This record gives sequence, structure tokens and C-alpha cells, in this order.
Amino acid sequence: MSVQIKKIGVLTSGGDSPGMNAAIRAVVRTCAYHNIVCMGIYRGFEGMIEGDILEMGPRFVKNIVNKGGTILKSARSKEFMTAEGRAKAYEELKKNDIDALVIIGGDGSFTGGMVFNKEYNFPVIGIPGTIDNDIYGTSFTLGYDTALNTVVDAIDKIRDTANSHNRLFFVEVMGRDAGHIALNAGIGAGAEEILIPEEDLGLERLLESLRRSKVSGKSSSIVVVSEGDKIGKNVFELKDYVEENMPEYDVRVSVLGHMQRGGSPSCFDRVLASRLGVKAVESLLEGKTNYMVGLVSDKVVLTPLEQAVKGQSKIDEELVRVSDIMST
Ligand code: F6P
Repeated sequence: MSVQIKKIGVLTSGGDSPGMNAAIRAVVRTCAYHNIVCMGIYRGFEGMIEGDILEMGPRFVKNIVNKGGTILKSARSKEFMTAEGRAKAYEELKKNDIDALVIIGGDGSFTGGMVFNKEYNFPVIGIPGTIDNDIYGTSFTLGYDTALNTVVDAIDKIRDTANSHNRLFFVEVMGRDAGHIALNAGIGAGAEEILIPEEDLGLERLLESLRRSKVSGKSSSIVVVSEGDKIGKNVFELKDYVEENMPEYDVRVSVLGHMQRGGSPSCFDRVLASRLGVKAVESLLEGKTNYMVGLVSDKVVLTPLEQAVKGQSKIDEELVRVSDIMST
């Protein structure tokens, strides 16, 4: 291993996700294992610009593997998007003798890291942390598995009311531009229809499907709608549309919102965070930079940050078909 890197900084940026703390812990402890100093940078790039930086030893991260959110806090920094902001950030890193950065976040955070690397030739490695699972180069982002379980649990509860009152529920789930949460949680929770941004189901097909449900004897239904769905109507407009066209349905809307981002990470997310954290630090020590660590076919691999940001994490068409068959 190269000996140039003596101090690594770690930050969490963008939307928080369960498993970020487990990843911070893994980074800190891998640094300690290799006798590297680890510095925690608070509030993402915002804290980097302001020099809000603190040394973290292995005991600093005790009892956080099971905690949601991020002890380092997170932010979406506008100032870091400017050259002046990045110059201030670079000065703060130099002041603290930090030689390399681990960025835990999503594509916006990785883009910031890439620009910074280009301008200052500063070593960076990304760990994908977002519940949306919308990053190329990993089958799973940190927090996605936990969010799926949270959503399925919530829909199971909603189903009790749907059944008891013979109602149709539209349940809106997160996923800014990606339908992974909707598709997988929808199948897991036995949704009647799943509306995702990647597939334009069309309003007519939705009505057709609901008509078929009635005819086949279903008394209640759950339709999962991804917040980024492109069907042209938001979830409340969808409710109105269905009620106008199918007055026989008693329709309700439930927007799950930020509860999907919180909570204790699943075992899967904790193990994933630990594996990615180790690989991130060891890759930096091996002189690798401008990569993201990810999990592909159960192996931890590196993908250039540029590909991770620009590539698309495609929806699995087999899942779309499975969902169609399950709603028969
Ligand atoms: O990217 C994660 C995510 O939770 C998206 O699913 C959602 O659209 C967005 O963040 C919400 O962001 P904020 O917490 O800033 O409202």
C-alpha cells in the first residue's frame, strides 16, 4: 500500500439514508486499522467550506451501526457549486492536513466530488448512499433495502383499512426520478398497479386494470405511485380522475414521505455499509481516486465516478412483468 495518505476526511451529503452511520463507522475503523487519521466533516460540503471538521477515533463511532440518519449531518451545498466555494473548501482541507476524501451520498454529491478532484487533483472515493437506488455501478445503494422494508410495512398497514372498507388506496412513495422503490415494494406488498417514471402506463390502462379488478372480484386495491411518475397527474389528481371515471370506487391517498428515509438500517444495509467503507479507504490507500465503490453480483467493485453519475440504473423489465402477472 502507498504511504502518501495519512489523513482521510469523510462526509455525508445530499438526502440522508439508513446505513450512512454504519458507513461512517466502517471508514473510521478501517482508517484506525491502517493507522490513518480520520476526520469527520460536518454538514457535507457546507461544513467543508466552513472548516467544521473533527478528528474521529474508533470509539467515536461506537453504538451507531444501528442508527438511522447521519451523525455527521448532511446538506445540499449551493456554495460548493461555485469555484469560490470549492477554493475555500480546499483551503480548509489543507489547513487540516487532509489528503483524501470519502464522500457518502448520491449523484449530486459525486458530481461535486468529481469537479473538486479535477480542479485540485484531490483524491476522492464515493460510497453510494440514497434510498432511491438510482446510481449506476451498484445493485444496491445504502438505505434502499431499509426503505423497501419500511414501505412494505406501511402498505401492509394501509391494506388493513383498504380491506375493511373496500377501498382503493393510492400510496405515493419516494424516488425522485427512479421507480425502484415503487416497483420492488409494490411487488412485495402485493400492489394492484405500480406507476413508475420509467414506464408510461397511461391513464386508460390504469382504469382498465381497475375495471378488471372489480370484475374479478377484488374488493380493495392498492396502487403504488412513485413520486417521479410521469403519468401527467400527481397522486391527488389521480384520485380525482379515478373517482370521476369510476364512481364505484371509494378512493384514498396516502403519501408516505420522509418516514421512508428514517429508521434503523436493515442487516443488509449495515453489512453493505461495512463492506463499502472498508473498500473505500483501502482503495484510497492503494492510490485509486475518482471511483465509486459498489456491489455487483455480491462483489465489491469500483466504478469511475463519471460513469456512476452519467450511467443509468435501469428498471428490471422482468420485475415489471412479474408485477403485471401478480395483479391477475
Ligand atoms: O434522493 C432521495 C430523496 O429522498 C428522493 O426520493 C426525494 O425526492 C428527495 O430525496 C427529497 O428530498 P428532500 O428531503 O430535500 O425534500
